[in-house]
Amino acid sequence: MIRFSTAGESHGEALMALVSGLPAGVPIDLEFVNRELWRRQQGYGRGDRMKIETDKAHILSGVRQGKTIGTPIALEIANHDWENWSAKLPVEAGDPALHQAVASPRPGHADLAGALKFNFPEARFVLERSSARETTARVAAGALAKLLLRSLGIEVGSHVIRVGHVALERNATWEEIAALDARNDVLLGCVDQATEDRMKEEVEQVSRTKDTVGGVFEVVVHGVPAGLGSYANWDERLDGQLAQAVMSVQAVKAVEIGHGVAAAASFGSEVHDPIQYAAEGTGQPTRFTRPSNNAGGIEGGVSNGEDIVVRGYLKPISTLRQPLESVRFDTREKTSASYERSDICVLPAAGVVGEAMVALTIARMTQEKFGGDSLVELQRNFAGYIEQIGKF
Ligand SMILES: Cc1cc2nc3c(=O)[nH]c(=O)nc-3n(C[C@H](O)[C@H](O)[C@H](O)COP(=O)(O)O)c2cc1C
Repeated sequence: MIRFSTAGESHGEALMALVSGLPAGVPIDLEFVNRELWRRQQGYGRGDRMKIETDKAHILSGVRQGKTIGTPIALEIANHDWENWSAKLPVEAGDPALHQAVASPRPGHADLAGALKFNFPEARFVLERSSARETTARVAAGALAKLLLRSLGIEVGSHVIRVGHVALERNATWEEIAALDARNDVLLGCVDQATEDRMKEEVEQVSRTKDTVGGVFEVVVHGVPAGLGSYANWDERLDGQLAQAVMSVQAVKAVEIGHGVAAAASFGSEVHDPIQYAAEGTGQPTRFTRPSNNAGGIEGGVSNGEDIVVRGYLKPISTLRQPLESVRFDTREKTSASYERSDICVLPAAGVVGEAMVALTIARMTQEKFGGDSLVELQRNFAGYIEQIGKF
C-alpha cells in the first residue's frame, strides 16, 4: 500500500518526505520532481520567502539507477533560510536570548490551539510545523505518485477557478489545464486570460489595503478507468478519500466533487449526467460516455470513467499586514497578533498541493486495486482490467 509522511519545520534545516509502497521499476525523473516544486513556489501574491527558497529534491533512498526499487523513498528539500534560523531554532538548548517567540497568537492559525495542546508558553514551535511550508514535502511525494500514474496513462492537473470575488464562469477542458502546466510564466493559473487579469486586479486590491484573499482551485484527473474506489464500505469510497486528502491542505475549508455545491441548489434533471454509448465505428474507443460531467467522475464512491474533478476552497490567508486583535501569551494583555512574513494569495500554489494530494490518493487506490510489486506486474494487471471493461 502506498503511504507517505512528512517531517520538518518551516525554518528548520530541511523538509522531508518518506514514501513507501511504490512498486519497483517506476522511472524517476528528478527534473520533473523539481519542476513540481518550482510550480508550488509560483503565483501572484506570494511573499518574500519564495524569493529566498529555490526548492530542489534530494533523494536519499529507494531509487537507484533512475528507477524505484520497491523500498521506502526518503526525500529531502533543504531550507535555504536555515542559515538565518540555526541560532533561533537550534536542536540543542542554544542561547535563549536568540530564540524568537511568537508572543501573541495569530487568529486563523494553529497558534493558540497548538500552544494550549502541547503546553508551549508561546507559539514558535506551533508555527514552525503548522506552516504550509510543509506542503513542499507533500508536492515532492506527490510528484512520485504522478510518475507512477503517468506510466498507466493517468495525468493530474489543476487550475484556479476563483480568486476572492472573481470567478471563472465556464468549465475548462483537460487540454486547457494541461497547457497551463507547461507554462513558465505562472500568474494565477486561470485558463481564461480576461478572468486571470481580473483575478490579478483582485490581488492588487488586497495588497493595497493590506488585506489577503482566498479562492478555489480545481484538480482534474484525466485517464482514470471506471472502478476505482467502492460503495461496499463507507471508508472505501473514492470521494471520501479524496475529500480527506484535499481537506488536509492548509487553509482549505471545503472540498467539492464536480459541481456538488451548485447541484445542492438545482433540480435532479439539471444535474445528473445522462449515459450514452460510443459504439464501434464511431471512431472512439467503445465505452459508456457522458455528454456532461457534473458528478466529477465519481458516482456511488466509484470512478465512472470520466475525468475526476475535485475542488478545494481556500479561506483568505490568515496573516494580515494590519494584524487583528490578539492577547500576549505572557501577560494576557490586549495587543496585535504577531506578524511573520507572509503570502497574500496562494492560488495557484495551493492547486499544485491539491494535485499532489489527489495524485497520492489515486496512486494508492490504483495500487490497491491492481496490486503488483513491480511496475511491469502492475501494468499487466491494469491492462487486463482495461481490456475487460473494454469488452463489457
Ligand atoms: C501553498 C500555501 C501557502 C500558504 N502560505 C501562507 C502564508 O504565507 N501565510 C499564512 O498566514 N498562511 C499561509 N497558508 C495557510 C496557512 O498555512 C493555514 O491557514 C494555517 O496553517 C491554519 O490552518 P487552517 O487554515 O487549515 O486552519 C498557506 C497555505 C498554502 C496551501
